[in-house]
Amino acid sequence: MQSYETRRTTLDPSDMMGLVERFPDDCLRAWESAAAWSVPALPAKHLLLLGMGGSAIGADLLRAYLEPSATIPITVCRDYEVPAFVDADTVCIAISYSGNTEETLSAYADARRRGARGLAISTGGKLQARAAADGVPCFPLAPGLPPRASLPWSFFSLLRVVAGLGIWVEQDAAVRALHARLREAAARWGPAAADSPALALANSLQDSVPIVYGAGRGLPTVAYRWKCQINENPKMAAACAALPEANHNEQAGFSSPHPEADYARLAVVMLTDPAARVEVRNRARVTADYLRGRMPVYEVEAEGDTLLERMLLLILLGDFVSVYLAWVREIDPTPVEAIEWLKGRLAALRGE
Ligand code: F6R
Repeated sequence: MQSYETRRTTLDPSDMMGLVERFPDDCLRAWESAAAWSVPALPAKHLLLLGMGGSAIGADLLRAYLEPSATIPITVCRDYEVPAFVDADTVCIAISYSGNTEETLSAYADARRRGARGLAISTGGKLQARAAADGVPCFPLAPGLPPRASLPWSFFSLLRVVAGLGIWVEQDAAVRALHARLREAAARWGPAAADSPALALANSLQDSVPIVYGAGRGLPTVAYRWKCQINENPKMAAACAALPEANHNEQAGFSSPHPEADYARLAVVMLTDPAARVEVRNRARVTADYLRGRMPVYEVEAEGDTLLERMLLLILLGDFVSVYLAWVREIDPTPVEAIEWLKGRLAALRGE
């Protein structure tokens, strides 16, 4: 570890690891700074969350967290157009870190056209300007971050907003308990730890194409965050899958008679939840047993007393693993040139 820590400024010049280390405190900061927001009372029969990429993952997490208790449907839309059910009974929250993401802006306009009452969360950009012109409240995110590192801000901002809307009952003590657990975990998993299991997993995964499975409530969303962080920080191909669904299709893809050739670089990370229902835990165990003969399988069990703790602790662990992967592969975790290149090419096609 020491050799990476001493080379930290060259391996990670924009300090992505520092942003992951700050994740626990950012959760609390985001929660506290959103306490003063005045969220309009908008009765909703449906909650629609709009966003893309690093801005949408906070929305996914919110949906996964609220699903067991919310009494209205919650939909996350990552597209130019919103579903046809959207109407005046829908409250729509558009989230874009930059405020300039074309799909989110288009979906926001579509939702407004269909009569949805809107809210926005952004650092600025066109979304903030359009919200101001529409008389729609736009709540701020902390500026100066790569969007994927703004997850604590987007998620806890959304939690405050849904509490203001009456969709969730505020749980200040639960957020403070979560903060303490995240801090304690960050000390065990971060670069100051003598024996970080996150670094050990990164060392095991560094030459592979990881497939991250999420088995249990909320864990498919966490698996998706792991995949995206592994794509963006160490610039690695990765995939994710959800149990039980993967047992009904993906499973067959691992039955090739030529496993050595077909699965040469694959490795599975199985995220499990001790609180998941027994059927799902059985599926995770049996699936891992099946795959083990064909590729390396690493099982990671969620920690935490509540669904919120289990999801966020596992996300923090995955964030550490992804930055360690960048370090061990000697790739700067922060720039995502391929995403910027694509956005530039599309802007040129629009004549901008
Ligand atoms: C992640 C990242 C992207 C953006 C996405 C949408 O670090 O850069 O996934 O989050 O392209 O952009 P924003 O978040 O500005 O709406």
